[in-house]
Amino acid sequence: MVIIDNKTELSHLVDQYRQKGKIIGFVPTMGALHEGHLSLVKKSKELTDITICSIFVNPTQFNDKADLELYPRMPEKDAYMLEKEGCGVLFLPEVSQIYPEEDKRVFDFGNLERILDGTSRPGHFNGVAQVVSILFGIVKPDKAFFGEKDYQQLLIIKELNNLLQLKVEVIGCPILRESDGLAMSSRNMLLSDEERKAASLIPNLMQEAKRLKQQGKTIPEVKQFVSQQLGSNPIYKLDYYEICNATTLSPLNSLNNSGKSISLIAVFVGKIRLIDNLALD
Ligand code: PAF
Repeated sequence: MVIIDNKTELSHLVDQYRQKGKIIGFVPTMGALHEGHLSLVKKSKELTDITICSIFVNPTQFNDKADLELYPRMPEKDAYMLEKEGCGVLFLPEVSQIYPEEDKRVFDFGNLERILDGTSRPGHFNGVAQVVSILFGIVKPDKAFFGEKDYQQLLIIKELNNLLQLKVEVIGCPILRESDGLAMSSRNMLLSDEERKAASLIPNLMQEAKRLKQQGKTIPEVKQFVSQQLGSNPIYKLDYYEICNATTLSPLNSLNNSGKSISLIAVFVGKIRLIDNLALD
């Protein structure tokens, strides 16, 4: 695996691959890799000739400075895991490579960003859009791979790709889960033992809520059930639990429930904010 920290060098290397007719796959990450990330690398290897992975903890997508500082960083271990997985190139840029000057672009993703993490983490998706458009500009991938755990992010990136006509095939990959059902996340390693145990309630609750909806409970009843369950233990603080249209993310209510639906949750377990989602159809 080639490790590169300079964007011009990476662009030259990509040009060489392209001249040889290679299909380029791209897996952007913020590091602290786990099996979920590796599944994206696997998918890229299956569908493309060269897989490029980036590790960059993007400061512009953190609306909370403490969260940025707390974000786990372990580039050596990550590089080892990527090498073992057969990743071709690792891009490990410094902030000055990505943002030689302040990125003042403001994107408008309409209703997609006016809900869920869009309201809970103001500016977050704008920062994601900034970094992804810059990385796509450097790597110019044919296909890029993102996890469905960050479902709203995936829809935003697809929209960004359309808005800027970046012509990248954006591919969503299924959530990988721990044996107790908890969605894999780099943030899980920040949980204490007690919090980690408590976190396993989240996927179970999502499944139970799905069953209640299938049994005919109304959406407000299902939402009340989730909030009551989490309310019974102060270790949890529910940020949101919503049932939305899976394409537009418009919240569903009893009058408007056409199309595929998805439930999405964000909950603090102690100080750590975890997200998850579950298709309801
Ligand atoms: O999902 C992530 O890890 C990040 O939001 C991404 C897409 C790499 C942009 O920094």
